[in-house]
Amino acid sequence: MKITHRSNDISLAADALMGGELVAIPTETVYGLAGNGFNSSAVQAIFKTKNRPFYDPLILHTDSVAKIKAWGLSIPEQLLPLIERYWPGPLTVLLDRNEQISDFITAGLLRVAFRIPDHPLTLELLSSLNFPLAAPSANPFGFVSPTKPEHVLEHFEGKIAMVLDGGPCVIGIESTIVGVENGDIVVYRLGGLTIEKIEALVGKVRFQISSSKPSAPGMLLRHYAPNKRLVAIDNADELKTVANSYPNPGLLIFNIEDEFTHEFKTIRLSKNKLAEEAAQAFYDALRSFNADANIETIVVERLPDFDLGRAINDRLNRAVNNP
Ligand code: TXA
Ligand code: MG
Repeated sequence: MKITHRSNDISLAADALMGGELVAIPTETVYGLAGNGFNSSAVQAIFKTKNRPFYDPLILHTDSVAKIKAWGLSIPEQLLPLIERYWPGPLTVLLDRNEQISDFITAGLLRVAFRIPDHPLTLELLSSLNFPLAAPSANPFGFVSPTKPEHVLEHFEGKIAMVLDGGPCVIGIESTIVGVENGDIVVYRLGGLTIEKIEALVGKVRFQISSSKPSAPGMLLRHYAPNKRLVAIDNADELKTVANSYPNPGLLIFNIEDEFTHEFKTIRLSKNKLAEEAAQAFYDALRSFNADANIETIVVERLPDFDLGRAINDRLNRAVNNP
């Protein structure tokens, strides 16, 4: 087994990636499990390491639109205002692919996903590379995404060359994915760039977000903790009922302030009741309850269903609906 280095040394990360090895990279959304997107054995190693099925396509990451164009890809004009305003940032766009992009990256689809992430270390790393980094979230397929270097090491210690340590992720949930169909902007995944911000810039958008998503399950806590039940609730009464009827609950709350929560293990997602803070804390909180042997049921309060709350609820509903 190799040793996984943990450091903020960009040249070490660049050397490993140029050598075809895998490096976990920090981004503002979640940590990514990165490999050379133009090296098919590195790309296949990503799938193998994550135990990810080949039907689930990967996002390519780079640091400039100029590179995307140099690789022969073009950006639909409807998306230009969004990328001008929100790149680098939590926005992924689907572009018509070309022969340079392998079928493994796109899972055989006609478009390829691209993103310029907003993290100083990773931007500097990307600017030193003449290839894009294919990087899914750095977790085993179906599990909660990682927002700290230690989350990545819990899964991949000894299995990847390095974790580029960029500290905790500031947004904490994955990027928003958009593309264009018949001239309309379509949102395929809710994420760190809110619909409110998108629509303020480009007007109403369409949604094509499958709620059951059989090809890419959400947070299958059950994968790794077969008996851990996840329950979503909307108010204090529901919380009380659920907490008193399921065994050993841990409560993940946002707005609810009720004396009875003190009787249980409770994590408040945001002291200031801000969706931004809740998004930052969300995956880490799920992970800590998942790892806690004294908790059998994780009870999560849904956020008000707008801004980042909507993206968090979307993930929560998937996790709950994926037994
Ligand atoms: O914030 C993020 O997007 C993070 C960081 C690391 O950048 N990455 C991430 O990757 O969340 P991943 O692999 O966990 O999720 C990628 C998802 C796929 O499951 C799929 O839903 C969508 O992106 N996707 C990728 N390529 C696509 C394509 N060509 N067409 C449609 N959807 C695509
Ligand atoms: Mg993922």
